[in-house]
Amino acid sequence: MALQTIDWLWLLHPALAVVVIYPLVGMVVRLGVQARQRRLGQSKLPVTSGRDHADLGRWLTGSVVLAVLVALVVVILTKVPLAEFAGGPSRLALLTLVTAGTAAAFAAFWRARQPPFRASFALLCWIGLIGLGLQPEVWRLSDNPLEPAFWQSHFWGGIGLIGLLLFAMAAKPETQRSLRWRRLHVSATVLAAVVLVAQGISGPRDLLEIPLHWQKPAIYSCDFEAQQCPAVPAPQS
Ligand code: HEM
Ligand code: HEM
Repeated sequence: MALQTIDWLWLLHPALAVVVIYPLVGMVVRLGVQARQRRLGQSKLPVTSGRDHADLGRWLTGSVVLAVLVALVVVILTKVPLAEFAGGPSRLALLTLVTAGTAAAFAAFWRARQPPFRASFALLCWIGLIGLGLQPEVWRLSDNPLEPAFWQSHFWGGIGLIGLLLFAMAAKPETQRSLRWRRLHVSATVLAAVVLVAQGISGPRDLLEIPLHWQKPAIYSCDFEAQQCPAVPAPQS
């Protein structure tokens, strides 16, 4: 059965996660562990582990930022037909500006050297993604950290993860130089690894719940609280 263009757009983000992000995670974690073992005295490991770890770490952060930007843009643009876009062309133009600004902040962050620039471009990029994510079109389960649903939210997990990865990338020179920063790096990225596992569960869960475009009218006529759908007429014989 053929997927419509809209369904393909919705597949872009999960496909990026499966094909690009998770393989990179495996390599980055392995090289990080090697860099540590080498530092602690296992001299048979390659000298390049630390540098390769940090290089691939940058690409990991970049691919997560890209995948999340893609997900948010697709969700916001396809909620209703473009002609009915809530807020009209002015809101569309504003959100386009925020999207372009977020991408530009990441590009500037990639090249930044001085600590204040690294910190502020990383923060700008994160704020841009949060700003797009807070639009009413984006499904977030719950915005209240006191509710269990908040902690199961694929959106908030993604925002937390990006914060941790941007931090790892921003603090790269400090992590290479000092033991205190390295400890902070390892604490932040162990947490990131746990969130990556959680995203790998909450993402497929959401995928299971999202119907194909043409099925949406039928599925969304169901009562999600009572977990019941309108009775289907019996087939004519
Ligand atoms: C899941 C993600 C990650 C994990 C589990 C991880 C883990 C580690 C570990 C275990 C170390 C060794 C610490 C030690 O020597 O005691 C390390 C070092 C380092 N990490 Fe990561 N890391 C991750 C992501 C990143 C990212 C995204 C960057 C950003 C560019 C990065 C940059 C670095 C740097 C620069 C070092 C120091 C390497 C050296 O000593 O030359 N890491 N990381
Ligand atoms: C690094 C891991 C991941 C991060 C940081 C991440 C983050 C996000 C964010 C922030 C959103 C937008 C909010 C929303 O619509 O819920 C989103 C949407 C979505 N995610 Fe993920 N995600 C990750 C992995 C995955 C995986 C592995 C899957 C499934 C196999 C997945 C499936 C989805 C789906 C179906 C959506 C709805 C929007 C769309 O498909 O474009 N995600 N994700």
